Amino acid sequence: MSQPLVVLITGVPGTGKTTVSSILANSLGGDHVEITHLVRDGGMSLNWDQSRATSIADVKALRHALSNIIAASTKPVVVDGHYSPDVVPRDAATLVVVLRRAPWVLRAQLQQRGYSPRKIRENVEAELIGTCLVDALKSQDHAKICEIDTTGQAPEETVKLVLAALDGEAACGYGSVDWMDAPEAEALLRDL
Ligand SMILES: Nc1ncnc2c1ncn2[C@@H]1O[C@H](COP(=O)(O)OP(=O)(O)O)[C@@H](O)[C@H]1O
Ligand SMILES: [Mg+2]
Repeated sequence: MSQPLVVLITGVPGTGKTTVSSILANSLGGDHVEITHLVRDGGMSLNWDQSRATSIADVKALRHALSNIIAASTKPVVVDGHYSPDVVPRDAATLVVVLRRAPWVLRAQLQQRGYSPRKIRENVEAELIGTCLVDALKSQDHAKICEIDTTGQAPEETVKLVLAALDGEAACGYGSVDWMDAPEAEALLRDL
């Protein structure tokens, strides 16, 4: 049986994974698999980290569940979650999209979401240093990684770039986002 098209969408919370995944799955006529929902609905949480207000997923069970979903699918699958690169086997992924957003913009967004100061700091720091890209590089084929700076971009534009990368129309690649060199970074770091 041939393997379905599988697109992983990673990025820190607030970078637009769910928005982009939903539009992309629609455009591809595929399924949108949100990892947080899969973990919650499949009872795959090991425990709740009170201090970080986040649940710890059973990664082994999650890997198994995702392999089954991909193996059974005849349609494209869009896997939405910041640990998607860790839980989808590298051979199964067609494209690994890493969404980036200027940390100073992300910070305002997470404040709006009502995140705690600690959670905001953790996520803004993760975006500043590119944690999600590093994680993707650790476990996925580098040639499949597509890093997109979504700052000031409409979700539909982001989806267009992903579709172009899938069609092989436009090279995507990674390595062009570097927030640390931006003038805003210094003030942000002082403030965090
Ligand atoms: N280019 C973009 N792509 C995706 N979302 C965007 C973009 N620009 C702004 N947004 C907004 O950012 C927010 C992202 O939220 P969400 O999709 O839930 O992110 P995540 O799933 O990564 O936490 C939404 O309010 C969305 O409308
Ligand atoms: Mg989301």
